[in-house]
Amino acid sequence: MTWRLCCAWIFVLLFPGFSDGGKLLVVPMMGSHWLSMQKVVEKLSERGHEVVVLMPEISWQMKTTQAYTVKRHPATLPLEELDNAFREYVATHLKDLPFPMNAIAIYNNSNHVFRMFFTQCQDLFSSKETLQYLNQSAFDAVLTDPILVCGATLANYLSLPFVFFMRGFPCSLHYKATQCPSPLSYIPRLFSFNSDHMTFLQRVENALIDLLELVYCNSLYKGILELSSEVLQRDVSLLDLLNSASIWLLRFDFVFEYVRPVMPNMVFIGGINCVQKKPLPKPPELEDQDREQNETPANQRGYV
Ligand SMILES: *[C@@H]1O[C@H](CO)[C@@H](O)[C@H](O)[C@H]1NC(C)=O
Ligand SMILES: *[C@@H]1O[C@H](CO)[C@@H](O)[C@H](O)[C@H]1NC(C)=O
Repeated sequence: MTWRLCCAWIFVLLFPGFSDGGKLLVVPMMGSHWLSMQKVVEKLSERGHEVVVLMPEISWQMKTTQAYTVKRHPATLPLEELDNAFREYVATHLKDLPFPMNAIAIYNNSNHVFRMFFTQCQDLFSSKETLQYLNQSAFDAVLTDPILVCGATLANYLSLPFVFFMRGFPCSLHYKATQCPSPLSYIPRLFSFNSDHMTFLQRVENALIDLLELVYCNSLYKGILELSSEVLQRDVSLLDLLNSASIWLLRFDFVFEYVRPVMPNMVFIGGINCVQKKPLPKPPELEDQDREQNETPANQRGYV
């Protein structure tokens, strides 16, 4: 049960709220990212923590429940623009262009989608009312998805400890920010399709991808870094913003990764989604057999 582990770690961070429950600010990323985070947020709230989820006024449908408070901040970007950017993004992935056109097109689209989300982050920091509310609420910690760096900027702004909850991060930033040793000869870069046993040429390719990642991510996050530097009133780099995270909750499994060193504050909580598991539905052919045999139910024969 992944969410149990998630909760346990956040619970530790909310110390000294062991008896009273802590006050947690959640800064989610909308879309599928939120679907995984929501279960954890609900559980934390059930366990007596006071949880406030910060969302833009205009966002993709983010189902909310009574379990936690939702604080909406003003947003200027029309929903249609968000939708269109995302549709283009998906269409580009499905287009099947030859290399390197596919990489260029995907990069171009990602940049576009990211810029949309940065606009929302800008709206958050332009809202004096929201910032005042957040400052006065005296939260104990922030739980956020690192992908947009907006939550990390906010946590830095409010001088609060923060926990990242994530599945994937461009340019292996989760390993870079935590300063995990990452020798190019043994650790395959994302999208290289190499394994941890590389030939000389594959190692060269790995090194080139690593160089490109730097350019790629610096340009992808350029807008948000300018905003963060302005908000925090000092020049910040992407790694500055990320490396002060208290805990990284990684929603994947160590056994599916190539062996690599990680830092003690990185916790593999498994499962792409933090959703409570349900038994698999019975395939129709088994149901037919059941009817014919009319004996032990399938779930006692170990099918389910
Ligand atoms: C880049 O993306 C924008 C907006 O999504 C699009 O209008 C433009 O045609 C794209 N350019 C390339 C070279 O793909
Ligand atoms: C939060 O409010 C306190 C006083 O109430 C003030 O001293 C502090 O500068 C504020 N912090 C931010 C980030 O606005």
